[in-house]
Amino acid sequence: MVSRVIPVDPFDLVIFGATGDLAQRKILPGLFRRHVAGQMPTDARVIGAARSDLSSAEFRAMARETIAAHVDPALQDAALLEDFLSRLDYVALDVQAGTGWEALRSLVRPDVVQAFYFSVAPVLFGDLAEGLQAQGIAGPGARIVVEKPFGRDLASAQALNATLAAHFEESQIYRIDHYLGKETVQNLMAVRFANILFEPLWNAQYIDHVQITVAETVGVGGRGAYYDRSGALRDMVQNHMMQLLCLIAMEPPWHFDPDAVRDEKLKVIRALQPVGRGDIVRGQYLAGGGGPGYLEDAGNPSSDTESYIALRVHVANWRWKGTPFYLRTGKRLRARTSEIAITFKEPPHSIFDDARGWRENVLVIRLQPNEGINLKVMIKEPGPGGMRLVQVPLDMSFATALGAEGADMPDAYERLIMDVIRGNQTLFMRGDEVEAAWAWTDPIIAGWQARGDRPQPYDAGSSGPEDALMLMHRDGRRWREIRE
Ligand SMILES: NC(=O)c1ccc[n+]([C@@H]2O[C@H](COP(=O)([O-])OP(=O)(O)OC[C@H]3O[C@@H](n4cnc5c(N)ncnc54)[C@H](OP(=O)(O)O)[C@@H]3O)[C@@H](O)[C@H]2O)c1
Repeated sequence: MVSRVIPVDPFDLVIFGATGDLAQRKILPGLFRRHVAGQMPTDARVIGAARSDLSSAEFRAMARETIAAHVDPALQDAALLEDFLSRLDYVALDVQAGTGWEALRSLVRPDVVQAFYFSVAPVLFGDLAEGLQAQGIAGPGARIVVEKPFGRDLASAQALNATLAAHFEESQIYRIDHYLGKETVQNLMAVRFANILFEPLWNAQYIDHVQITVAETVGVGGRGAYYDRSGALRDMVQNHMMQLLCLIAMEPPWHFDPDAVRDEKLKVIRALQPVGRGDIVRGQYLAGGGGPGYLEDAGNPSSDTESYIALRVHVANWRWKGTPFYLRTGKRLRARTSEIAITFKEPPHSIFDDARGWRENVLVIRLQPNEGINLKVMIKEPGPGGMRLVQVPLDMSFATALGAEGADMPDAYERLIMDVIRGNQTLFMRGDEVEAAWAWTDPIIAGWQARGDRPQPYDAGSSGPEDALMLMHRDGRRWREIRE
């Protein structure tokens, strides 16, 4: 099964922050993979911009190194690499000092798709947006790509939206959430809306609860100071996990169209009930397994920022009344895994005498590792021992099901960048969605601050704080095991 790679229109992609971590680890390697896949048209150009005083030749040498380090050796064809590098240019530009704009203007072509990737600290977004217009670089169809974090509360997100809106139309603004670029996340929509099987059952009558888990084994390490100003709620829940929740909970959009999809997601966010104090558990990892604890990693012995959070969330609408969504995410946990598990209710009546083997149907959507979908169903245990029930997985690992194409799926960033060039905003967050998500998040944080709540310690390499288990136990449910 081979997916079609359709070359995009000729483009100039300017990466502001081209010498930084994201550009080097994700954006440049991702673009090279798209080039190898044949998706970059012959006259596409990529222009790096940052303060560092580099020539284009030095930037290409940098790109060569980062591609060698971050792209599968099997894809590193020498001729394709040279061809890719020949499309790269570099401009030394300091957004704050206002230098370098002219050099950039001389490189950006007015008659191709123009995309400007803001891979810099958010404080620079306003100056960049203004500079692109004031310097006459961005044409009417230009697109800007903005990275997370998009604000740190409702007020800052509104201010950022207003700043960008002063220079660009909403249809030109691509707020990236790389979770939305993951193959499985899009497959979630395909599973729901391209099959008749699930949608009739996709409501509180048949779904007992939903668990969304994003677990990491790493601590906050080198970015402790940055993380300490954020925490798991701001860093993971307000954006990535909220987006996953929306895709599960939303009504079918009338069409797979950017605003139709985003309208439905927005309705979900607006329907989220305020979260009570008893519905949240926060934690901080302790030292262990040869690593320091959170407080040491953060360089702040009195920090009350959470490296773990679990929440019980309710979507207050007809479809979901009575079905809780349990969300948890944390650092230094037992395994690195991201999954959505949808647990169905029991059948209304069992015709089998031996119901001991009975387990709920669970649909598991794995984001990492090994992207795929797994449906746990009941069958008869094989053999002559009477009608005994056993649960088995109907497992579809994309790598297995789709062969080489499934194993070599585009990384979320490369897929999303190609969507920007195509002008498709479906997998990007709209300004009102981001604001609605902050409007739900702000009171939670205000509550912690007003009460002086502190996160509970948890062991490094564990499943999180004890109280998180209780969050489920008191509802008569259990978290799924965190494992790869
Ligand atoms: N890294 C990730 O995995 C990741 C993930 C999600 C979101 N993000 C977001 O992506 C953005 C970039 O992150 P990053 O990790 O790549 O940061 P970074 O490594 O600190 O890179 C920042 C880049 O900005 C450039 N820069 C700084 N000041 C500048 C100025 N005045 N004018 C022009 N360029 C300037 C820097 O280059 P010079 O020093 O040469 O100017 C560098 O290229 C941030 O908003 C971050 O929150 C990053």
